[in-house]
Amino acid sequence: MTLSLLLHSKPGTSPSRLRAGAPPENRRAPFEFYPTPPAATRALLSAERFEGSIWEPACGNGAIARELIASGYDVTATDIADWGYGTPHCDFLSAEAPRGRNIVTNPPYGYGLADAFVRQALRFTAQTGGRVAMLMNIASLCHPSRHGSFVRKPPSVIYALDECVCFPLGDPALASRYTLQHRYAWVIWDHGHAGDTAFRWLSTAPFTTAQQKGEQQ
Ligand SMILES: C[S@@+](CC[C@H](N)C(=O)[O-])C[C@H]1O[C@@H](n2cnc3c(N)ncnc32)[C@H](O)[C@@H]1O
Repeated sequence: MTLSLLLHSKPGTSPSRLRAGAPPENRRAPFEFYPTPPAATRALLSAERFEGSIWEPACGNGAIARELIASGYDVTATDIADWGYGTPHCDFLSAEAPRGRNIVTNPPYGYGLADAFVRQALRFTAQTGGRVAMLMNIASLCHPSRHGSFVRKPPSVIYALDECVCFPLGDPALASRYTLQHRYAWVIWDHGHAGDTAFRWLSTAPFTTAQQKGEQQ
């Protein structure tokens, strides 16, 4: 399958079932594979610590997991697909038991998957006593379908990232205008948290190499 065909596909969708004529902005990468630039994880780790092990349950090619390991964390990395890293063929949404105390990931977004990931991560960390950190499209925080769940279970802190581009399949050549318009935040949940959500600004610039800066432009 070529990259352009892959970009048309929904997870589990064969090329013969592709939607003809969809504008480039509506195409999603297969399995929602948009790897996280290392600087986004490094920025998170400059601001937050996690006690105990971490499960990266949608690890892709290990973009987040590698940074966590480099910072000394004991990481279990799984994914539903095989992107050449971690343990493939593990569907987080049908997992029955937690595989780490904390959960840190950039989840798949389309088709309501991010909401399901947040729910599942909160369920598991309620059992382990760990924390959840999810890289989310900041616009997704402002939506009638999520308002209630954020009010019922507010994050302890939200970090607005100044610069972060998650390219389809990690390939800048596949970026659409829409890809470049996304803005991201790390959203952190602590089960012991009560009260307001702290909102902070976090820069990826100190953690971004010159080559990565070039790719983002
Ligand atoms: C936005 S990418 C992020 C990858 C990686 N977390 C990172 O930050 O670089 C989303 C990932 O979710 C995986 N994925 C999609 N649905 C999944 C599911 N139900 N269970 C586990 N992984 C899933 C995809 O294969 C893809 O690697």
